[in-house]
Amino acid sequence: MSEIDALEDSNIIISDDMITFVGGNTELESYLQKNNIKEIAEFDASGKVIMPGFVDSHTHFVFAGSREDEYEMRLAGKSYQEIAETGGGIWSTVTNVRQSDKNELKSLAAKKLATFFSYGTTTLEGKSGYGLDIENELKMLDIINSLNSSNEFGIDIVPTFLGAHSIPREMSKESYVDLICNEMIPSVAKAHLSKYIDIFIEKGYFDVNDADRILGEGVKHGLTPRTHIDQFTSMGGTEISLKHGAVSLDHLEVMSDEDIKLMAKYNESAERKTVAGLLPGVSYFLGISYTPGRKLIDAGVPVLIATDFNPGSCMSQNMQLMMSLASTQIKMTAEEIINAVTINPAYSLGLDHKVGSIERGKQADLLIFDMPSYKYLIYNFGVNNLEFVVKKGKFFNVNEITSSLSN
Ligand code: NIG
Ligand code: FE
Repeated sequence: MSEIDALEDSNIIISDDMITFVGGNTELESYLQKNNIKEIAEFDASGKVIMPGFVDSHTHFVFAGSREDEYEMRLAGKSYQEIAETGGGIWSTVTNVRQSDKNELKSLAAKKLATFFSYGTTTLEGKSGYGLDIENELKMLDIINSLNSSNEFGIDIVPTFLGAHSIPREMSKESYVDLICNEMIPSVAKAHLSKYIDIFIEKGYFDVNDADRILGEGVKHGLTPRTHIDQFTSMGGTEISLKHGAVSLDHLEVMSDEDIKLMAKYNESAERKTVAGLLPGVSYFLGISYTPGRKLIDAGVPVLIATDFNPGSCMSQNMQLMMSLASTQIKMTAEEIINAVTINPAYSLGLDHKVGSIERGKQADLLIFDMPSYKYLIYNFGVNNLEFVVKKGKFFNVNEITSSLSN
């Protein structure tokens, strides 16, 4: 977590969408000679900082409508759970998503992507979970897959099936769990709409027994779990997620010391290690406790930081803001934070061979910041220090993206 291998006075060569060289001036000369490269378009990044593109491995970016009315109710004293009980919360977004046609929903999502990108996110995960019936869950996954095949910036997007986000009003929990297991999971797997399966384990949503069935069925169909646990209630989410080989345990705001030990122990022998997903924007937005990230890191558990961008618990696509919160609220160092927004989330998505670091042979996804050192990014908070985003070798000017955004 604490090593980032920062280089100074270095050069990067990009060929098409790939990084083909990283190194100092002498190595550069011999590389150019050896490969008989005579002409090269240069970008002078003297005095700037180049980082790998951010990987946001937990988002709910496909949705319709917004919930600023709930935000106000919370400020007046109502809790997230109380609002959900009276018909707000996830259910209000489900109603909007069901009423939106596919094209409408897709263009709303595409707009959200531009904002992510302007703050440095070049790879992101996106969940279903606002459909809660077959038609609308598949509709959401279709949109995510089609945006992955084609979007304005070439952002890589990984879909996750989150049918078990909440219980739809029209049926009992038991019938809905049956529907997820008997119909939704097989349909998602058959159409290759997602490699991942998620569940919200929480009081009033799904419990450990539901998770055992749903995750078990998902794994049987080739889906890998990444889960929402311990947001408000510590209720056995860690153990059940690990039982099914989850690659990312997210939220963890009220995680117990025992569960931290369980995660660390699991990773000692796990082939694919599990990463703790910190979502500091949720703690900030809902005014709840921050995940014990320091304890997790000190116990040897790798952590990642994600936005959890969604209309109810974190309405922000800004990864740089999450980095600032992880620093001031969780006391993570600049190096830990950089790993937590690049290589660790890439690993949790099974994409660490391709993105998450600046290495020869990886995709050319780079962020160019106008700042004197990498530590400056969390120090100069609340502004966008990003000048250029390079995605698959293509340069985008951040000012131009920002001025084209109208919210
Ligand atoms: O990750 N916790 C559950 N799901 C989302 C919130 C979804 C919503 O409120 O719309 C989350 O926080
Ligand atoms: Fe979430």
